[in-house]
Amino acid sequence: MPFYAKSLDANYARLVDKELRASHAGETGAVWIYRGALVAEFIWCLLHINKTEDDTKRFIREHLETERAHLAIFESEMPLFRGSFILPLWIAAGFITGFLPRLLGKNWFFYTIYCVEEFVDLHYDEQCKNMSALSIPPSNVIERFKHCQEGEQHHRDEALAMMTRQPSLLMRLWGRVVEKGSLFAVAIAKLI
Ligand SMILES: [Fe+2]
Ligand SMILES: [Fe+2]
Repeated sequence: MPFYAKSLDANYARLVDKELRASHAGETGAVWIYRGALVAEFIWCLLHINKTEDDTKRFIREHLETERAHLAIFESEMPLFRGSFILPLWIAAGFITGFLPRLLGKNWFFYTIYCVEEFVDLHYDEQCKNMSALSIPPSNVIERFKHCQEGEQHHRDEALAMMTRQPSLLMRLWGRVVEKGSLFAVAIAKLI
């Protein structure tokens, strides 16, 4: 094999590896967003404040199941890849992103989920485009990314539909923090 073919192969493998690592970190974080939200739900329960919150609990449980299924796809159906060395950080970031907004209220939580899922949808889109442009697109990976993307689109739309009022200025600022933080996390996860 000529040396340039070898280096093309190496570049190809590196690109797919990075995309898999970034999205595996993202799906890990997503599972913990909903676990964080469940802990906050539990606190609301202890305070006896949320007797009419059944829809929110159902939302959290259903989304948690979907995110666990997404994570299982990355861990058992994808080609082998190197996981992020700082997974505990993504777990902590996910937990806080679910816990804090849910503690602040339903609209805070649903708006946060809307912002996260909107980001993830666009990110999956960009990843699929990048991999489709490769000389031999990894169709097995792209198909599974698209499957996960459909789930995220559904989550985003459901979160928006669950909101009972327009987001406040503070919520919009928080949404920007979530978006920029997610962008930063993707860049870091691709590296380490
Ligand atoms: Fe997901
Ligand atoms: Fe999701």
